[in-house]
Amino acid sequence: YYIGIDLGTSAVKLLLMDERGSIKNIVSEEYPLFFPHPGWSEQNPEDWMSAIKRGIPKLTEKVDRTRIAGIGAGGQMHGLVVLDDRNRVLRPAILWNDGRTQEETDDLNQKVGKEKLTALTGNIAFAGFTAPKLLWMKKHEPELFGRIARIMLPKDYINYMLTGVHCTDYSDASGMLLLDVRHKCWSREMLRICGISEDQLPRLFESWQVVGTLRKEMAEELGLPETVKVVAGAGDNAAAAVGCGVVGEGRCNISLGTSGTIFITSGSFRVDSGNALHAFAHADGGFHLMGCMLSAASCNKWWMEEILHTTEYEKEQAEIREDRLGTGHVYYLPYLMGERAPHNDPAARSCFLGMTMDTSRTDMTLAVLEGVAFGIRDSLEAAEKLGISVKSSMICGGGAKSPLWKKIFADVLNIELTVPETEQGPGYGGAILAAVGCGEYGSVSEAVKQMVHVTDTVRPDAETAERYEKKYQVYRSLYPALKGLFP
Ligand code: XUL
Repeated sequence: YYIGIDLGTSAVKLLLMDERGSIKNIVSEEYPLFFPHPGWSEQNPEDWMSAIKRGIPKLTEKVDRTRIAGIGAGGQMHGLVVLDDRNRVLRPAILWNDGRTQEETDDLNQKVGKEKLTALTGNIAFAGFTAPKLLWMKKHEPELFGRIARIMLPKDYINYMLTGVHCTDYSDASGMLLLDVRHKCWSREMLRICGISEDQLPRLFESWQVVGTLRKEMAEELGLPETVKVVAGAGDNAAAAVGCGVVGEGRCNISLGTSGTIFITSGSFRVDSGNALHAFAHADGGFHLMGCMLSAASCNKWWMEEILHTTEYEKEQAEIREDRLGTGHVYYLPYLMGERAPHNDPAARSCFLGMTMDTSRTDMTLAVLEGVAFGIRDSLEAAEKLGISVKSSMICGGGAKSPLWKKIFADVLNIELTVPETEQGPGYGGAILAAVGCGEYGSVSEAVKQMVHVTDTVRPDAETAERYEKKYQVYRSLYPALKGLFP
């Protein structure tokens, strides 16, 4: 058996898979997310680890644990985890959707310059990336900054706790703005700019490579054999792409979790000259371009749970019939945590526009679902500007459970969406990477060919797509008109 860990923002989802890819069990354990100031976002790494320690015994209770061979994680990207020389966590992790580093991000993009940053790393600075967070710590918490012995990303903290090996993989390291993504090595110049040294950084691996086995105490605590191998794993988006079979050249995956991403694979390295899409390494040894919106399924969760005070998602969407799609005049901008792609603006904020006296709660629910789809369409447009034509995409993540939302995405993007057997992208991808690392398959692409199956296809409808085309043109004019209104 193989264990996949999806270290998410709202919970860790653990998945148990057999050698052939059939899912035997799934366990989810939640942990808190802290917003100490508007636009900031933090979590305690210890909470992640306790959730995993609670979850793994439950996950494996019905199987012969001596048959568990490997573990692979896909983790929320970009989060800054810092440990001192006695392996104590120095401060809460600053997460991927934290917007505190506007100043440091602007400094990097303006003083170092976008061109130089792109030459060094493949990317410009975005507020969620790790390097601006290090600069923020250096400025605001100099004493703590001086005590940093080890810098790592969220899933690397888990791997470090499991194995004692300070390591990361290329896909996740790509999001630090410290890696020369094209050449797959740390950028000395970026390290100098951030005031850190290479011995504080993790060792680099390919995602499927085994980094170590379980530490004795950890094996005992989890109830697993010490022989269990741990692979380097991947950023959650790369892991999700693997879990959806999206590897190799020119394939696309859309992931609807707390964030929303569109992930386009390429065998060779390429950058987005328009600076909207990230140029990162993939977990199959290749590369990808990715657009990331900071609030996707979380917009719907916020609207349903915080505002409407309900958790009955299906009931709330039941009234929205397909012939109603694209006919409403309400718009929603999905910028609850500012926005990454394509605006790179931590100060952007959400709003509803266009309501009239007869606007109903259902109209607003629909506007939220549409607004998130329009946000992904923005990134698709950026890809098209580069000459990339996307005709179809896989779709996964919690948001992909809703048939209505998938239909809206197919119509707004005007592409065909294919749905895999499981929407558990990162967890399934993590388990697949572990199976490859343990020698079950010769490569990631061979593994996904055998394990990932498409079970459903959602096609766009020409008339609805046309209505959405008109709505999208209005939507895309709203952010530029409102930009600057928020402090
Ligand atoms: C990607 C990103 C998010 C997180 C979510 O760049 O920031 O998708 O990885 O966990």
